[in-house]
Amino acid sequence: MPRTLLLNAFEMPVPVHQSPGLWRHPEDRSRDYAQLSHWERQAQIIEDAGFHGLFLADVLGLYDVYGGSADAALRGGVQVPQLDPLILAPLLAKATTTLTIGVTASVTYAAPYDLARRFSTLDALTDGRIAWNVVTSYQESAARNLGLGQQLPHDQRYDRADEYMDVVYSLWEASYADDAYVADAASGVVVDPDKVRGAGHRGEYFDVQAPALVAPTPQRTPFLFQAGASPRGLQFAAKHAEAVFFSGPTPEQVATWTAALREAAAEHGRDPRSVKVFSNAAVVVAETSEAARERLESYQQYVDVDAALALFAGWTGVDLSQADPDAPLEHVETDANRSALASFTKLDSEGAWTPRRVAEFVAIGGRGPVLVGSPEEVADELQRWVEVADLDGFNINACVRPADFERFGRFVTPVLRERGLLPADDAASATTRTAREVFGGAGPRLREDHAGATFRS
Ligand SMILES: Cc1cc2nc3c(=O)[nH]c(=O)nc-3n(C[C@H](O)[C@H](O)[C@H](O)COP(=O)(O)O)c2cc1C
Repeated sequence: MPRTLLLNAFEMPVPVHQSPGLWRHPEDRSRDYAQLSHWERQAQIIEDAGFHGLFLADVLGLYDVYGGSADAALRGGVQVPQLDPLILAPLLAKATTTLTIGVTASVTYAAPYDLARRFSTLDALTDGRIAWNVVTSYQESAARNLGLGQQLPHDQRYDRADEYMDVVYSLWEASYADDAYVADAASGVVVDPDKVRGAGHRGEYFDVQAPALVAPTPQRTPFLFQAGASPRGLQFAAKHAEAVFFSGPTPEQVATWTAALREAAAEHGRDPRSVKVFSNAAVVVAETSEAARERLESYQQYVDVDAALALFAGWTGVDLSQADPDAPLEHVETDANRSALASFTKLDSEGAWTPRRVAEFVAIGGRGPVLVGSPEEVADELQRWVEVADLDGFNINACVRPADFERFGRFVTPVLRERGLLPADDAASATTRTAREVFGGAGPRLREDHAGATFRS
């Protein structure tokens, strides 16, 4: 019996997420990014398509590496303008029934006491349908915008994030007993002070002594996603993440990260299979192979080369604005840049990578693979990724939004159901479950073998 898949729709409240220029496609509606009705409809399409979650990305700065300014990013709408996903999340939970909402929030820029309250509020208002994508952020522009001047070094960001998690676990898991909030009219007691204790955290980066402001919510700690694939990032994920999101060029590459992650999770005393692994993929599907390829070709005419290079520059730090668009990329100098580019070029090693080719590639589905074909071919390819990379599921991104999510539901979901890779359509009788239960947990709270559980009294 094949393993059941977990599916997230990978989104961001922006007109241009992973496929620069495709907002001009006649079926694309993402220019309406600032209208609530657009997002409500999109979330409903995603839920109806059989997805378990809607996963919302977030960044806190402009993409200003390309050409040393944000002009290309602004012109091409590269993840700008954008809305705050944390505020959108409960509205989308309200517009849907079972869909979980994953919200990206940076531990580098939000104070833990404040962010803990915001996630508790989301967890309470959505009956636990909330997940948190814990990021340390990667943009220098964000560091300048949020008062740091420049980013902390990469590994130090994770060291600080480790301590951050201790603070939020203290607040979520330890500060209130389950029965601390009594609201007992007879005695006049709202909260029993004997059942509340302060976080009592004093460390290198944080000093938080008080109890949380919010009493326990369905999950206490929201279900935790993380997306680091560097050695330090994987260590962080192995300790804290309940689900990890990789964006890898090939299933073989992702397999090395999955193996390293599961091994490190076991070293932390966790059941390695309890950490769910998702991989990023774009899907272009149609009735037949030929029709899907034609559809992909129709997408290619909308590609915005400059915007794609601005997106690429923001991710990798590689500014190709001065490079000859048709010259092979052999002159990219620094080690960091080389490795970023190398991982990207492994997606397809045929022919030389020129700036033009990079742009055309990034502009359809970002850095991850694009699975193109008939419903059966796409399902085969998803299954191959699961087997080779030992995956639990996918974060699917749409090139044309929301059409590609709707098409996924119309074409691919029925095949996955037939093959037993998705549960039968039981939406009508579906009862609301917390994100932790949707993603495989036995109950709404953190597992006993998770680092956060050690904070319980
Ligand atoms: C598919 C994917 C989605 C991501 N989404 C975000 C995001 O929304 N915001 C953010 O700041 N970082 C995001 N990241 C970046 C990661 O949080 C992390 O910074 C990056 O993968 C580098 O981590 P590493 O150096 O440990 O590999 C994402 C990464 C991946 C692979």
